[in-house]
Amino acid sequence: MSKLLSLLTLAVIASAAFAQKPKDISLSAPNKTGGKSIMQTLSDRHSDREFDSKELTLQDISDLLWAANGVNRPDGKRTAPSAMNKQDVDIYVLTKDGAYRYDASAHVLKGITTGDHRALISSSRSSQTSSTPPVGLVLVSDLSKFGPNASDKAFQMGALDAGIVSQNINLFCSGKGFATVPRMSMDVDGLKKTLGLSDSQVPMLNNPVGYPKK
Ligand SMILES: Cc1cc2nc3c(=O)[nH]c(=O)nc-3n(C[C@H](O)[C@H](O)[C@H](O)COP(=O)(O)O)c2cc1C
Repeated sequence: MSKLLSLLTLAVIASAAFAQKPKDISLSAPNKTGGKSIMQTLSDRHSDREFDSKELTLQDISDLLWAANGVNRPDGKRTAPSAMNKQDVDIYVLTKDGAYRYDASAHVLKGITTGDHRALISSSRSSQTSSTPPVGLVLVSDLSKFGPNASDKAFQMGALDAGIVSQNINLFCSGKGFATVPRMSMDVDGLKKTLGLSDSQVPMLNNPVGYPKK
């Protein structure tokens, strides 16, 4: 009887765990037209910490992620350069519905867990953000891409690579009229747990993204 109960409990836990994983979302091809000129984009770039409640469309998210770190050449290289082309930076996407990982080669959002986890990037200093962004992007460097033994040099390369991805996001937002701010402050332990990160995967920066508050 107790064996049967344990089995039933396990089945309930397993089905709950399964139910917590959102479906993958296939993104349509990025729209590479439009936006401001590069000089106007640089001229307008600034940090915004307040967001309108208007949701981004899936096309906006497709364009944003491709601009941030998408594949832009047949050989699989990216819109963001990376040290030794290790492509160590993964973008995790937090929305009101769940958390996803951007699979750049497939241009797909891979479901990780359901629920609204955007508060994990709204702690401490970043609580200056007075409105919740529709989308939170967390830039995670996998330091194991630089070799088995994590070193200061590997951390430096991972942090620099994440900084470049963040700047792609900053410029995309400036050029297309979205609001964002690069932030180091976030609940790193909470993110590691929620996103199921390994010890070598380090959340380096985050960029909340939304429409500017009217
Ligand atoms: C590496 C880095 C970390 C940052 N971390 C935070 C942060 O945790 N919270 C925040 O509100 N802004 C953060 N910022 C944004 C800066 O405060 C902002 O870029 C700076 O005040 C200049 O303003 P501007 O971006 O409008 O030019 C960070 C910027 C960088 C480059």
